[in-house]
Amino acid sequence: MSDVVRIGVAGLGTVGAGTLSLVHDNQQLLRDRCGRTLSVVAVSARDRSKDRGVDVDGLRWHDDPRGLVDDGEVDVVVELIGGDSGPALDLVSGALEAGKPVVTANKALIAMHGATLAGLAEKNDVALSFEAAVAGGIPIIKSLREGLAANHISRVYGILNGTCNYILSTMRTTGRDFEDVLKEAQALGYAEADPSFDVDGVDAAHKLAILTSVAFGTEIDINAVHMEGIRNISTLDINYADEFGYRIKLLGLAEKLSEQAGGGIVQRVYPCLIRPDHPLASVEGVFNAVVAEGDFVGKSVYEGRGAGAGPTASAIVSDLMDIAAGRHAPVFGVPVSELKSPPSIPVEQHVGEYYVRLLVVDRPGVFADIATAFRDESVSMESVLQRGRNSNANVNVVIITHETQESNLVRALKLLQDNAALVEPPHMMRIENIDGA
Ligand SMILES: NC(=O)c1ccc[n+]([C@@H]2O[C@H](COP(=O)([O-])OP(=O)(O)OC[C@H]3O[C@@H](n4cnc5c(N)ncnc54)[C@H](OP(=O)(O)O)[C@@H]3O)[C@@H](O)[C@H]2O)c1
Repeated sequence: MSDVVRIGVAGLGTVGAGTLSLVHDNQQLLRDRCGRTLSVVAVSARDRSKDRGVDVDGLRWHDDPRGLVDDGEVDVVVELIGGDSGPALDLVSGALEAGKPVVTANKALIAMHGATLAGLAEKNDVALSFEAAVAGGIPIIKSLREGLAANHISRVYGILNGTCNYILSTMRTTGRDFEDVLKEAQALGYAEADPSFDVDGVDAAHKLAILTSVAFGTEIDINAVHMEGIRNISTLDINYADEFGYRIKLLGLAEKLSEQAGGGIVQRVYPCLIRPDHPLASVEGVFNAVVAEGDFVGKSVYEGRGAGAGPTASAIVSDLMDIAAGRHAPVFGVPVSELKSPPSIPVEQHVGEYYVRLLVVDRPGVFADIATAFRDESVSMESVLQRGRNSNANVNVVIITHETQESNLVRALKLLQDNAALVEPPHMMRIENIDGA
């Protein structure tokens, strides 16, 4: 085995430049810890003349990222272009087919093509590593796949998108509305010009699909993730949640039901209410956090920066060090042929308490209509708050339900949809009574 690992990096944006910096700045430490020198020898990006804040002089430049596959002096390919198709897919599959290990930060690619790419990696006996794809600097993939390998994991959940967490935290602490805080997040570089991947829950869903596969040894299935974003969360909801003793967080939750309960898998991304004493409630701003529950270890909580050049490079380079040291685990924890495909549990079967806010015309009989619809669908109310009369004489009725099946609540709200007193469609969120201990 050569003393030097020759690395080719495709993509020199935020993460690519951060990776080059880390490999350069910590070179001796990396060598001490993995026994070999990590050396970036070739790069690829679109614009050769761009100043990237890192020195690329002396590195071979490939206009086409595929050039890294054919470059005989590149041992390991790092894909930091992004996107679930096109050059990223082409590069990663080409490198694996050519027998070159791959490190990527690309959650969209792994969520969409993880099983196929893992199959290619296995066939060619090379690593496909993606620690940086989920929760940035938090080493959650390695924790689940290796640190907690002795456990049956029953549940893994967390704050997987820093942009949404920043927006919700800032809305709560400043009272500003979603659009206003989103603009600020864009100005600060926390949100893209097109923020839909983040605020509509897509990014968190990609990460959750990856976590699910690693935690439960199941085939990755992005289509099985129920996904809702945070666009419809208002400061009103945040304040009402607070009055009832809750915080609103965008969570990704994956759960494996017991064999007696059918062994199905639940995968959901949505804004929900959690108790303020839960460890996730105090994770604010752009931070991410993940909770894993195992049968012997119990609950373990991981928190850290979910994005940015430094944290993401930290994860990428730790993957590179494993490759340099010759350590490589099965991509999703077990060989691809042993990945299971248990049934996916639709969100309609979710059982829990709910927060419902109805903006209604303030006139006699309206509350009786609401109560009747809830009664007819066997949804019982735990608390009701009716306040906030405004100049249009509309009023918000906020209800916390007792535990109920989601399909019942959906039917109750449907019964109300044609009621002329309803000023806008109902707002509904799940309450996650996840244990804070
Ligand atoms: N940013 C984060 O904090 C973060 C965190 C975790 C994971 N990730 C993931 O890391 C990946 C990279 O993210 P990023 O934020 O670094 O993206 P970015 O700043 O937009 O950088 C993308 C890079 O890819 C290059 N590129 C685009 N198309 C190319 C092509 N056809 N051929 C060669 N190079 C091409 C661009 O070249 P030019 O510079 O010449 O335009 C640019 O250098 C994504 O998969 C992302 O999801 C990012």
